[in-house]
Amino acid sequence: MAFNKPKKPLFSLNSSLCTTLFFIVLFTIPILLLLHTPTNSICTTTSSKIKSWSGDLRDAEFSWNRLKFNDKNPPLKTLKIAVFSRKWPMSATPGGMERHAYTLHMAMASRGHQVHVFTSPPMEHVTPTTSHMIDDSSQSSPIIHWHEGEAGRWRYNKAWEQYQEENEREPFDVIHSESVALPHHVALSLPNLVVSWHGIALESVQSSIFQDLARNPNEPMSSSFNQGLQGMIPKVLNEIRFFHNYAHHVAISDSCGEMLRDVYQIPRKRVHVIVNGVDEKDFCEDSRLGHDFGSNIGLPQNATIVLGVAGRLVKDKGHPLLHAAFSQLKEKYPNVYLIVAGSGPWLQRYKDLGPQVIVLGSMNPSELKAFYNSIDIFVNPTLRPQGLDLTLMEAMISGKPIMASRFPSIKGTIVVNDEYGFMFTPNVESLVEALERVVEEGRGKLARRGKACREYASSMFTAKKMALAYERLFLCIKNETFCTYH
Ligand SMILES: *[C@@H]1O[C@H](CO)[C@@H](O)[C@H](O)[C@H]1NC(C)=O
Ligand SMILES: *[C@@H]1O[C@H](CO)[C@@H](O)[C@H](O)[C@H]1NC(C)=O
Repeated sequence: MAFNKPKKPLFSLNSSLCTTLFFIVLFTIPILLLLHTPTNSICTTTSSKIKSWSGDLRDAEFSWNRLKFNDKNPPLKTLKIAVFSRKWPMSATPGGMERHAYTLHMAMASRGHQVHVFTSPPMEHVTPTTSHMIDDSSQSSPIIHWHEGEAGRWRYNKAWEQYQEENEREPFDVIHSESVALPHHVALSLPNLVVSWHGIALESVQSSIFQDLARNPNEPMSSSFNQGLQGMIPKVLNEIRFFHNYAHHVAISDSCGEMLRDVYQIPRKRVHVIVNGVDEKDFCEDSRLGHDFGSNIGLPQNATIVLGVAGRLVKDKGHPLLHAAFSQLKEKYPNVYLIVAGSGPWLQRYKDLGPQVIVLGSMNPSELKAFYNSIDIFVNPTLRPQGLDLTLMEAMISGKPIMASRFPSIKGTIVVNDEYGFMFTPNVESLVEALERVVEEGRGKLARRGKACREYASSMFTAKKMALAYERLFLCIKNETFCTYH
């Protein structure tokens, strides 16, 4: 997100904006309170054990990742699946909802389903002009249909034409849209459509509240942020009205599922929570690897606690908070270190904090794996409650506890047990307080927390678990007999 140079100081807000702000506050406080009250399903399922539950899967309000699914190959039935994704990644660039589509549907294809991906022309090297390009020659599926036109520019109507042609040849069993890749007016006529939401407008409202509260009082609000606020409530209302057109909804966090049911008023049987997964081959617990990595980057032997942060070093990921909090902490604890993996505008400011901060820049996936192993605890000070950062799952799968902003998504899905780590209100004082608790607690206890995290995350957040849950949902849409879970 770009933060333009502010044009207007806060005190000259016009009256319509004040009204909007007032409305946002009025509207969101009850919602935030509501979201902070855990429902029974969340309270009773905080253990990492596979849930013993039976019933119609469409009634499940908890995340499907908690269940155990048939992983026999071939699956109960093989399906023909259409995927609409604005982009299809061609390289190992991590992150984003396109990455989710890729991880999920490569797994679907490897389980024998016939997957057709409808997407925009690729940005990198290959510039195919026709459809039916095959991404990986060793496998006949997924079949990638790049529509015509400019690289990276999504035109749903072109993709829809290609879909129709393929559907006439042999009908699809189920259609999957990544967010609004397939617009709602097209979705309206499709009873076998599943849409995955990676962040909804109501979560952006919360995000704006947290971001503005983290603003220094003498720093004016940026004009782009200001404009964003004004359109916010209309955007939520608009989403509430058009989301109904999609037959089935996948929320990627428990709290998002709750918002879709309770605020967006989507009938509960059409809302399913399936949390995104990370590829378990890419992350693991390996203390030797972590130790070697630490030596290579110059982490001193006398370090007592090593904190780690990863991702884009931008304001809305909470870096102003961590920067300020660590500046205080390092004075009091000269043997506490912070490793920063990632790049962005805050990189130089971290470098300026001196020898207790080790700034690494962007990391490739194998370096990230070593990074997670070299730290004692992973810090995520994000100010954006939309979706869930995959870094949280990656750190947990690597056997590390978490320190994160107290957001409904993180609290309801990730740090569901006090054992898994620490939560703080996203402001400097609260973060400093949490950091001090971590330091006082020491390495041994953090390592025990890490073991618990690993156990929980490897039962919940693997790409395999995500794929099996989606497979079951697709089967249930194809034939209701598959909706029954024992
Ligand atoms: C820890 O070790 C580093 C490098 O070996 C040294 O520069 C630093 O002074 C030590 N810190 C303390 C607090 O002893
Ligand atoms: C659904 O699956 C069941 C069990 O496999 C089968 O008996 C039934 O015919 C299927 N129904 C449809 C409509 O395909």
